[in-house]
Amino acid sequence: MPVHAIVGTQTVPIEITLNGDKRTLEVSPATTLLDLLRHDLLLTGTKKGCDHGQCGACTVIIDGQRINSCLQLAVMQDGKAITTIEGLSQGGALHPLQAAFIERDAFQCGYCTPGQICSGVALIEEGHATTREEIREHMSGNICRCGAYPNIVDAIEDVLVQRGQLMKEAAE
Ligand code: FES
Ligand code: FES
Repeated sequence: MPVHAIVGTQTVPIEITLNGDKRTLEVSPATTLLDLLRHDLLLTGTKKGCDHGQCGACTVIIDGQRINSCLQLAVMQDGKAITTIEGLSQGGALHPLQAAFIERDAFQCGYCTPGQICSGVALIEEGHATTREEIREHMSGNICRCGAYPNIVDAIEDVLVQRGQLMKEAAE
């Protein structure tokens, strides 16, 4: 059903795969994906920073692409696979990038770190980054870089090197 055809308090059924689980949900046409995740589903790992698509704090992975969830309506997600920071570990084991963030002391504040990690995971899967400069460029949508930014690049570089996608460059 087109969104413009929906009025009042009517909700719309959607089916999504959320962190590997099939979910059938009733969502308001005006609800953003970010608010669906945080307020309705209590997946509060995804953070609301600017709520205007400018900071990257709300980044989730939708069908393999990193997306600012504050700019997405929940009704647009029907049939899609969504991964949040809560869905990255498998069977109690951290995702390699989460482990690399710990190893490299790449953490920023609690607001910025989940979006940085989701963005980094998708960047690695995209396979476009072949240099540290390209890692920086592809992470440019996650804007807060206080303190830990070189360590974030180190952590992403480590995982790309582990996967044979990148030759280790000299440390900066
Ligand atoms: S909260 Fe979505 S980009 Fe800032
Ligand atoms: S505001 Fe979160 S790391 Fe800067």
